[in-house]
Amino acid sequence: MGLLRTIVLGREDGFRARLRRAVLGGGGNAAKGAPTPAPTPTSDAGWGGASPAAAEPALGLHPEAPKDVTPPEGFEVVLHKDALAAGSVVEIIIGGTAVAVANVDGTFYATTNTCPHADGPLGEGSLDGRILTCPYHGWAFDVADGACKTNPDVKIETYDVQVVDTAVCVRI
Ligand code: FES
Repeated sequence: MGLLRTIVLGREDGFRARLRRAVLGGGGNAAKGAPTPAPTPTSDAGWGGASPAAAEPALGLHPEAPKDVTPPEGFEVVLHKDALAAGSVVEIIIGGTAVAVANVDGTFYATTNTCPHADGPLGEGSLDGRILTCPYHGWAFDVADGACKTNPDVKIETYDVQVVDTAVCVRI
């Protein structure tokens, strides 16, 4: 039941659960027993709608993504460097593309959010060092180079990341 629930509803502290709480209120059924994290992006773009040129910053993360930082050419500011704890990963929409951003001991990495096995949401996975494990069936990926540790024939897309002042910037 636990795995099925995770596949259908996502992790209790995952993107989908946070979105449910943001839409339904802080006391949604999916949040029972779970800490109450801040709400997460609520833009329609977060569900595949077009946001053609800009990142959808992780609105629910604190501190919020800085607005006074000019990102390098081709990059988008996606979050504040203190908003994502070391060992954590989050899904962020950049130009309509879902990206998983991971904090590995203070170094940020970005990969596609979509697991090549069966489209699992990698941004809701778990991070152990540089290894990001998909919440659906446990395929594991190195966020630094995209190598799949479960299936060596598979590799996920990675994106360049730069930290400018307090801003984590990603180029897709
Ligand atoms: S969808 Fe199956 S391991 Fe990711």
